[in-house]
Amino acid sequence: MARMGAFGVVVVVMVAMCVSPILGTFVVEENSLTVSTPDSLKGTYQSAIGNFGVPQYGGTLSGFVMYPTVNAKACEKFPDNYFRSSSGARPNFALVERGDCYFANKVWNAQQAGAAAVLVMDNKKEELITMDSPDDDPVASQYLQNISIPSALISKDFGDKLKAALASKELVTMKLDWRESLPHPDERVEYEFWTNSNDECGPKCDAQVEFVRNFKGVAQILERGGYTQFTPHYITWYCPQAFIESKQCKAQCINNGRYCAPDPEQDFTKGYDGKQVVTENLRQLCVFKVTNNSSPRQPWKWWDFVTDFQIRCPMKENKYGPECAEEVIKSLSIDVDAVRKCMGNPDADVDNPVLKFEQDAQVGQGTRGDVTILPTLIVNQRQYRGKLDKTAVLKAICSGYQESTDPPVCLSDTMETNECLDNNGGCWKSGSITACQDTFRGRVCQCPLVNGVQFEGDGYTHCEANGPGRCKVQNGGCWEETRDGAHYSACQDQHPNGCHCPVGFEGNASAVTGGCVDINECTARTKCQCPECKCTNTWGSYDCQCSGGLLYFAEHDTCINRKSAESKMGWTVSLIVLSGLAVLGLGGYVVYKYRLRSYMDSEIRAIMAQYMPLDSQNDSVQNHNDDV
Ligand SMILES: *[C@@H]1O[C@H](CO)[C@@H](O)[C@H](O)[C@H]1NC(C)=O
Ligand SMILES: *[C@@H]1O[C@H](CO)[C@@H](O)[C@H](O)[C@H]1NC(C)=O
Ligand SMILES: *[C@@H]1O[C@H](CO)[C@@H](O)[C@H](O)[C@H]1NC(C)=O
Repeated sequence: MARMGAFGVVVVVMVAMCVSPILGTFVVEENSLTVSTPDSLKGTYQSAIGNFGVPQYGGTLSGFVMYPTVNAKACEKFPDNYFRSSSGARPNFALVERGDCYFANKVWNAQQAGAAAVLVMDNKKEELITMDSPDDDPVASQYLQNISIPSALISKDFGDKLKAALASKELVTMKLDWRESLPHPDERVEYEFWTNSNDECGPKCDAQVEFVRNFKGVAQILERGGYTQFTPHYITWYCPQAFIESKQCKAQCINNGRYCAPDPEQDFTKGYDGKQVVTENLRQLCVFKVTNNSSPRQPWKWWDFVTDFQIRCPMKENKYGPECAEEVIKSLSIDVDAVRKCMGNPDADVDNPVLKFEQDAQVGQGTRGDVTILPTLIVNQRQYRGKLDKTAVLKAICSGYQESTDPPVCLSDTMETNECLDNNGGCWKSGSITACQDTFRGRVCQCPLVNGVQFEGDGYTHCEANGPGRCKVQNGGCWEETRDGAHYSACQDQHPNGCHCPVGFEGNASAVTGGCVDINECTARTKCQCPECKCTNTWGSYDCQCSGGLLYFAEHDTCINRKSAESKMGWTVSLIVLSGLAVLGLGGYVVYKYRLRSYMDSEIRAIMAQYMPLDSQNDSVQNHNDDV
């Protein structure tokens, strides 16, 4: 809630061991606010942009100010449509007072009652601060993402004047103006994203992951088109000299205390350590450096790497770490050795130029101010305020262009990235079936749904058809072959999943070609082994002939003469017939006892007799009688 919210958490997490290099300036980003009526208030005032909701970067919004007579702090719900303007009229801005609940809560309540923007007036005389979103509040996290209106903090002085004017029934009209919020518009926007590879820090991390995933497509279009110059950054702390040998610094820092990150679980005894987080942060920086400096330059691959890493190597699944990360690097055709070289040796007592640069960049310069809130987006050297949402951020970036130089994405949001055309986007592929999908969010690797058959798997290295109908789609990805009119398949309906070599074959049923190979029953000495037997292997089976006019009896793998075969056969046949009869009789009795009797009472039979042909009527009657 306070302007230093995230910073405070970080410091607590660091258990006061590692502190920010310099406690410098935090710049409050402002937009201007112009009052046009009443005359007594005419003029321009400053207001601080709230760090949630959607500020109208590059635009303006005019409206009337309304001050609620009850619930002035807006901590309770307002009656429906309390702030809603009648259609055609200018929108209403809610003027509410600071205190008692989260800033975001006030804005949410006003938005639900139809306010177009919210002005929160400070409750004491002080410099303006940035209204931040609450950090770890489960209730707030439910509405935070749904706040879609802009908000701003104004001074107590100015708020009191507005209240006085409204109390004397004056009409207060004002214009909120974000056009100057991002400086020096030109034909290229420079922006930075301060982030963290840690994916387990609660709602802030989730929002970050979600944003990167959603924004990737647009970011890549802008970067490829040369419309932006994007640089990712990672907040990096250091361990004070006196504590370098402490357990805490050893667990959270690399390069002998030079570069640290807080423990993800805030517990040194379990899970991942801060040390592993800095290392992954460093790897992500290096992925950017390597792709940015390669020829041709492909700095947009950072977005692919980061999203794939989040999906494929999450902490939750215990996959976070170098092994998984390098697999992702390889799948995106990025030079692994160059990335390793860039990372250097984290155990060495030396500076790492990449992380050193990050530490220095954290300290504010010029208009920008220190980076202390994670995640932070900086556009044209100004900190972006507002929720991390694709549309809101795109709007902010687009406002950084001089008119007529805006890239097409700024004018429409229908876009395709065509990333699947390049190496299938690093996703799984088999024949014409691919897990790569071009979406407005950039490419995603997701096992497809083909002709009603759902493929399942990680989407990167493995997808497999499951469920009924799967054998109709590329034979379920299983081996199959036809030779001389004989066809065998490793996709079998009796096995709902996976591939299985049919009887007479063995091998890797999932290898589409050459997977299953014929078993030579003759040399394997599994069939046709009697002395009189002559074995010939065939594809998928075998043929067995007996010498001396004997007959091959496969069941016992032996040769017998025809007579005994016949008598044997006779015996077997009569045994089968007898036991069949017995089963039938018993079955009939059971059916009659539990089923027929209850259904076939005389009334039903009478009714049926009117509709059924004569002989079937006779049959049923006969069966019935037989059983009695
Ligand atoms: C926020 O918006 C989503 C999607 O529109 C909706 O499902 C959810 O219920 C909303 N949350 C609240 C607290 O209104
Ligand atoms: C990325 O490349 C551009 C153009 O070559 C360069 O100006 C920029 O400094 C590079 N950024 C990093 C972090 O290496
Ligand atoms: C079977 O073949 C598939 C496809 O070629 C391959 O991915 C898999 O590793 C093979 N399995 C074994 C056990 O060799």
